[in-house]
Amino acid sequence: MIFQKSEAEIDLMREPCRIVGECLKFVGERICAGMTTEEVDKLVYDFIKASGAEPSCLGYCGYPASACVSVNEVVVHGIPDQRVIKEGDIVSVDLCAYKNGYHGDGARTFRIGKVDEESDKLVRVTEECFFKAFEHLRAGTPLGDIGYYVQQHAEANGFSVIRSYTGHGIGREMHEDPTVANCGKRGTGVRLKAGTVICIEPMIAAGGWKVKILDDGWTAVTQDKKRAAHYENTVVVLEGGAEILTL
Ligand code: MF3
Ligand code: CO
Repeated sequence: MIFQKSEAEIDLMREPCRIVGECLKFVGERICAGMTTEEVDKLVYDFIKASGAEPSCLGYCGYPASACVSVNEVVVHGIPDQRVIKEGDIVSVDLCAYKNGYHGDGARTFRIGKVDEESDKLVRVTEECFFKAFEHLRAGTPLGDIGYYVQQHAEANGFSVIRSYTGHGIGREMHEDPTVANCGKRGTGVRLKAGTVICIEPMIAAGGWKVKILDDGWTAVTQDKKRAAHYENTVVVLEGGAEILTL
């Protein structure tokens, strides 16, 4: 069941979403070689708390941290630990904030110092995949168009789309309908209505799209150990366009 949000509800969602966007920017200005992924998580926890919000990820289905911090071949759901971030790494940080009864959700992939050419392109193309889909989004857009534009851009650049994770609706719950796939056929699926709030979150791999989950039950890594990147925003569908709430 896809809920449409009223203008009043969207206004309530602006605050947790703004906190997510600001927190990602704050982390991006501080993340560097020599930090542990746990230290990144601490930045996120402190920022969200200081903003008067709650970190939605903490305790979600037993998840033990406020952020997912995914280095290089880790696609998503990297659990913060003692791993030291190194020069040349790419690090995805995914976080959610809860305030006013609503969640906001976003992710960025950060380059640590100078990264190799392929990683640099991977991070850039993953962001572009989001914007390719976003540009085509407005009331009446078939859901499958989002996956189509993401997949088309990723594959045109020689990368692959992770299949086993998707974007999602968001609101009073962190994950609501619809499921927002990153692969798809243009013109298929439900037509999105104005007031629908979704997370579009391309997860793109430099090699193959197959992943495996480590023994911790969360950490998703590429099977071929090639790098992956993640970029996510919470967006609201409007008549004639869409608005990003987490920038
Ligand atoms: N923020 C993630 C998403 O995009 C959810 C992370 S799972 C959690 O859906 F357990 F960390 F919360
Ligand atoms: Co999400």
